[in-house]
Amino acid sequence: MKLLVTGGAGFIGSNFVRYWLRDHPSDRIVNIDKLTYAGNRQNLEGVSPGHELVCEDIAEANLEEQMEGVEAVFHFAAESHVDRSIDSADVFVRTNVLGTQRLLEAARRRRIARFVLISTDEVYGALGDSGDFTEDAPFRPNSPYAATKAAADLLARSYFKTYQFPVIVTRACNNYGPYQHPEKMIPLMTTNALNGLPLPVYGEGAQVREWIHVEDHCRALEAVLRRGRPGEVYNLGSGYRSTNLELVQMILRLLDKPASLIRFVADRPGHDFRYALDSAKAHRELGWEPQIALEAGLEQTLRWYRDNHEWVRSARGDSYQQYYSQMYENREGYRQNL
Ligand code: NAD
Ligand code: DAU
Repeated sequence: MKLLVTGGAGFIGSNFVRYWLRDHPSDRIVNIDKLTYAGNRQNLEGVSPGHELVCEDIAEANLEEQMEGVEAVFHFAAESHVDRSIDSADVFVRTNVLGTQRLLEAARRRRIARFVLISTDEVYGALGDSGDFTEDAPFRPNSPYAATKAAADLLARSYFKTYQFPVIVTRACNNYGPYQHPEKMIPLMTTNALNGLPLPVYGEGAQVREWIHVEDHCRALEAVLRRGRPGEVYNLGSGYRSTNLELVQMILRLLDKPASLIRFVADRPGHDFRYALDSAKAHRELGWEPQIALEAGLEQTLRWYRDNHEWVRSARGDSYQQYYSQMYENREGYRQNL
């Protein structure tokens, strides 16, 4: 089979490319990735010859040409970081909305048999202390990032309803695992702790996130391709929920680092309080269940960041340092006890 993957040099996309070619070594994958700050060729080192990286922007490329002989598309490419969208949303609209529409249109013209759109639980907005989001929950995106993902998700719906184009949408919870950019919470906290740097917890760390290991997410995406129904949406959660503070404390305990590294810093504007997914539909229709328990997955992930010095060194290079100092070093609470 020949697949087209977008954003396959990023965190989830590169894990998916590895996952797929490990289990299906005779398949071919065309990977369109612009290699933004979040895309990293090192994420694909050692990937088998069945993979071709095409360094192009989905908002500009001739996408139909890249779809020659392709049977299925997995669309991961996006601007993915909420904090960056708060600073400047333009590129989020361009990539996440325009890029998605261009990809859908090219795939429709090419009569691609399956198009899997990787959406997110953030389209639903935030929950209070109780309840889970089902696939029918209303859209209430709160950050510019989430709003652009909601627009992409709705475009996918419109392509199914209007053209009967076989799109399937997945909405996963927070992913963790190897090759995640260190702007994101788990690798940020882990690599800071390993370097003896402060761990900047937003607000009081009371927000709740549901965490899925990226390998479980990849397995779910394969099940979506094999057994998902066109026009349907599948929540992909793990059931492992934790406050940010509890998670940071778990990281410190697993790394044997002191709690004194924690800093409570000024909160993210519009910070969603709680995400929790009802994933019963995916269990029932896809026959998929997550297999990796949070503490075991986290332990393996922390080991990966500890052992992959060269990857961490380059991911935390000059442009990251610039971003980090702008985002954190003057933030209220960060310099406390330094
Ligand atoms: P990431 O930021 O690590 O990777 C995004 C990739 O897309 C990068 O390789 C980047 O170079 C590429 N890209 C960005 N703009 C592009 C463009 N215009 N053209 C081509 N390539 C472009 O993101 P991720 O965390 O791997 O997320 C992948 C997808 O999964 C995104 O759509 C995201 O919204 C969704 N998602 C992520 C999570 C999570 O916890 N990380 C959870 C649910 C859904
Ligand atoms: O829920 C799915 C979403 O998960 C995806 O759609 C996004 O692409 C992905 O980035 C992620 O979004 P979050 O905003 O939840 O992830 P992030 O890693 O940025 O933050 C996780 C939580 O940790 C969130 O409540 C904010 C908090 N946080 C984050 C950072 C970077 C901190 O307390 N301190 C930090 O320095």
